Amino acid sequence: MSAKSGGKAALFLSLFFLSLPARSGEAQADIDLDTAEAQFARSCGTCHTTDPDEPPRQGPHLHGVYGREAGRVGGFAYSEALKAKASEGLVWTEATLQPWITSADAFIPGTTMLYRQGNPEKRALIIAYLRSLSDKRAKAD
Ligand code: HEC
Repeated sequence: MSAKSGGKAALFLSLFFLSLPARSGEAQADIDLDTAEAQFARSCGTCHTTDPDEPPRQGPHLHGVYGREAGRVGGFAYSEALKAKASEGLVWTEATLQPWITSADAFIPGTTMLYRQGNPEKRALIIAYLRSLSDKRAKAD
């Protein structure tokens, strides 16, 4: 084995271990992902799939939406309100999904997503589920 490929392996390993504490140390560690997925299906599943290959429902698919810029699903007719907010650089993270699913219309007045979730535990489950999908995607890349 050359020194060069050894160096690559060491870099890969240290990146791998660096990524571990970031995940396990967060609040989502005590969230059961099956419960989170079921909550997502109940609260959001009528209007959103997480499979980009399925036909869109009332809303765009949410595959990889956590950590991504808003308004990026090709072919989906977003509202002017959401497009305007997206062009200001809106990214979907914990900080933006919280107010969005608490009251979509208060966060982006004029949006076509008519949804409110007042229960913080349900919001935490839903956001953890979306986040877990983006984590899986990052691992597969
Ligand atoms: C009644 C249907 C409906 C429900 C229920 C619903 N949504 Fe939506 N959602 C929409 C529509 C319609 C849009 C597009 C909004 C726009 O363009 O203004 C949207 C957009 C979004 C976006 C922006 C996606 C992007 O590509 O920028 C996110 C994130 C989102 N919804 C998350 C959720 C979550 C999480 C839930 C459950 C807590 C949920 N939605 C429940 C209809 C719904």
